[in-house]
Amino acid sequence: MKISLNQMFKSINKWCIGAVAVLLFSGSYNANAQGEALFKAKCGTCHQPHKNGTGPKLFQVRKKWADGGAKDGSIYLWVNNWQAAAASDPYAQTVSTWAPTAMQAFPELKKEEIDAILDYVDATPDPAAAPADGGAASGDGMAATGEEMEEEGTFNWIWVLLGVIFAVIIGAVSGVRRQLKSALNEGEDSEDLSYAQEFKTWAWKNKVYVGVGSLIIVICLLVSGILGLGNIGVVEDYQPSQPIEFPHEIHAGINGIDCKYCHNSVTKSKSAGLPTVNVCMNCHKQINGRTPEQQEKIAKVYEAAGWSTEGAGGYTGKTKPIKWNKVHVLPDHVYFNHSQHVVVGGVDCKQCHGDMTKQKETARVVPVEELNKIEGNVVLTRPTLTMGWCIECHGEKSIADGPLDTKKDGYYDEIHRRLLNNDKTLYKKYLDDGKVTVKELGGWECAKCHY
Ligand code: HEC
Ligand code: HEC
Ligand code: HEC
Ligand code: HEC
Ligand code: HEC
Ligand code: HEC
Repeated sequence: MKISLNQMFKSINKWCIGAVAVLLFSGSYNANAQGEALFKAKCGTCHQPHKNGTGPKLFQVRKKWADGGAKDGSIYLWVNNWQAAAASDPYAQTVSTWAPTAMQAFPELKKEEIDAILDYVDATPDPAAAPADGGAASGDGMAATGEEMEEEGTFNWIWVLLGVIFAVIIGAVSGVRRQLKSALNEGEDSEDLSYAQEFKTWAWKNKVYVGVGSLIIVICLLVSGILGLGNIGVVEDYQPSQPIEFPHEIHAGINGIDCKYCHNSVTKSKSAGLPTVNVCMNCHKQINGRTPEQQEKIAKVYEAAGWSTEGAGGYTGKTKPIKWNKVHVLPDHVYFNHSQHVVVGGVDCKQCHGDMTKQKETARVVPVEELNKIEGNVVLTRPTLTMGWCIECHGEKSIADGPLDTKKDGYYDEIHRRLLNNDKTLYKKYLDDGKVTVKELGGWECAKCHY
């Protein structure tokens, strides 16, 4: 029995539809990246999908609450404010006794975001169930490695899928080749259609699928690439040791010294700058500390400045520069400008560095969850100082100044005036969401941040 070319292509089409569907599925797997990011940023410290930790495992917790007779929607209230939930719903009240530690409140999370988190949790395969029988029983160690493997999951998934698609295409092409051969054998003509030519013919006939297929492949690669980039070089909570234990709390907090007194180029240039020891000596010539520990610490300042407290005191000329270790470090290929953010953008130091007036120890890179708790900060989900963090804020933050606001700034007045006069449609589009974000002024362009 012979299959006609036409039938052959029809069957290839079915394969293609299947392949595209599989790819779409992988797309939707990625689409819950928001849930994953939120889970990791906000819940992951206490919760795991399949294992109890500080908090209980969250797998299918919505079902558990529904089955347990919790009030409708009470689980969302729980996440926003567990105390309110425990007060209004007896089921939530029993949950709240699970551990002596209490859960944090997340008033900022919308219902859809909580659903995204819990969808992500429910879609996470149980690592203990995967490796045959032994896995489930073998306790903590096993589960921990399972967790790690699952972290890589999204990425490998895509490669496996690409492999399958590729195999399908190869299979289909060789099928066509055989078919073409037998068809052509009846007529005499060329045996020697090359694979490339055959592929071209096939691809041309199925241009819609080939087009959509390649587009989806490219999109999958881009999405996984961008998600991956967002996590490169996470340095949150980095707190290097310092030659002198300089406490910001005593200086910027208790004694109310302005940040600019010490970081005096922060409003004028790219870098904030660190104070020279002379700046310290403006005060410490007089202040040598009340307790022995303080005196010991401040003695290091004197040593650096070449200041002697012996005898009559005074400068000895033997200085020894303080080598502060850099805390916030961006790679060389990234351009970041303080004055642009602090002055033009009107962004407060707290947004990126946390409340330094309360920093008792040496400076550190404050994790994004802590930054999110500070009043007035834009809530972000990507780790501090990563590329994802920068661009997320650029997508969220409106450029506060200019005609949109009462606060006037010449630079933005000018931009807004020009947009208004030259291209009203564009301006309208910007204002659709009520704000002009940094992104809309080009804050997502690679070249703005990369040399
Ligand atoms: C600081 C630790 C901590 C963080 C962070 C945290 N939780 Fe919890 N969570 C708990 C504890 C502890 C419980 C158990 C209740 C209790 O003992 O108060 C709990 C209970 C829950 C429950 C009920 C579980 C059950 O089995 O009925 C849900 C749902 C929940 N948390 C969701 C979340 C979500 C969503 C996030 C992130 C947005 C989150 N939690 C972040 C500690 C935390
Ligand atoms: C009396 C001087 C002084 C004042 C006032 C001061 N700082 Fe600092 N700051 C320093 C010194 C010295 C260091 C280096 C030591 C360290 O990193 O702990 C530093 C380090 C920092 C760092 C880490 C720098 C790095 O290496 O990445 C940040 C961020 C910072 N300060 C922010 C602030 C903010 C915000 C304020 C105002 C609330 C402030 N500082 C006020 C002296 C000061
Ligand atoms: C939009 C986020 C952001 C804001 C707002 C911000 N900083 Fe920074 N800060 C950074 C980044 C990013 C670095 C690392 C820069 C680098 O490595 O090039 C940094 C580095 C620093 C340093 C280390 C020295 C240097 O210049 O690299 C100091 C000190 C500092 N910031 C102080 C401040 C002070 C004071 C303010 C408020 C007046 C402030 N920053 C506001 C993001 C910010
Ligand atoms: C505007 C004045 C002023 C400047 C400038 C200043 N300090 Fe201080 N510093 C103080 C005061 C006030 C105290 C608290 C002394 C006390 O509690 O008796 C202090 C305390 C200290 C202590 C002891 C902290 C402790 O743990 O108790 C150290 C260390 C110190 N300063 C280092 C520095 C260094 C390094 C610089 C320069 C980067 C600097 N200070 C700049 C006013 C200043
Ligand atoms: C908290 C929000 C926030 C974070 C985080 C942030 N930025 Fe910005 N950024 C702004 C604002 C607001 C502006 C607007 C000022 C302007 O457009 O000149 C801006 C502007 C810029 C610009 C100029 C864009 C343009 O169109 O001219 C660059 C470059 C930039 N940021 C780089 C960075 C880098 C690199 C990081 C991460 C290390 C970062 N930003 C993190 C808020 C942020
Ligand atoms: C708002 C600023 C900003 C924009 C816009 C931006 N990046 Fe980045 N990018 C960063 C920062 C900051 C890092 C360093 C992250 C880290 O060290 O964790 C980075 C890191 C990278 C890296 C990783 C290099 C390494 O350190 O290994 C690549 C690649 C990259 N960016 C490419 C791009 C491309 C392509 C675009 C345009 C689509 C882009 N970036 C747009 C801020 C930005």
